[in-house]
Amino acid sequence: MKTPLVGIVMGSQSDWEVMKHAAQQLKDFGVAFEARALSAHRAPELLIEWIDGLVAAGAKCFIAGAGGAAHLAGVVAAKTTLPVLAVPMPSGHLQGLDSLLSMVQMPKGIPVATFAIGEAGAANAGLFAVAMLALEDKKLAKALQAFRKAQADAVKSIKLPAV
Ligand code: RP5
Repeated sequence: MKTPLVGIVMGSQSDWEVMKHAAQQLKDFGVAFEARALSAHRAPELLIEWIDGLVAAGAKCFIAGAGGAAHLAGVVAAKTTLPVLAVPMPSGHLQGLDSLLSMVQMPKGIPVATFAIGEAGAANAGLFAVAMLALEDKKLAKALQAFRKAQADAVKSIKLPAV
């Protein structure tokens, strides 16, 4: 098994439906990752243990998804200086605005990079992790360029219906 370069963590199993989109991007680019559901408030010791283990193993960044009073990404960032990408979950009551504000309003000094609420944010966090890793991996950089080109080509071929 390859050493995970990215740690994906989420506050609950219920976040997986969204967070699997981050995992899918990493898988598509062949980036080794480890995904866990480890709540910052329900199991803080377990979370810290997992972070320490991945950092020691050589991980390069973390993606953290959580909902509500979403402190998970901040706790991960408190424990490691590796980049932490935060994905707000679309929570039931406030449609993810609570999650977004909890993540994006990190106090000065311990940053997390916050993405869009939900699936697009999760996928983009995965792509952003790929972009960071591509800085030191030419093969990955080429694959990312090809991915972008495919999107541009799809735009070129759009034909709108006649009126
Ligand atoms: C947060 O509370 C999780 O990240 C999740 O988004 C939310 C609800 O969790 P469950 O009640 O579904 O376990 O900690």
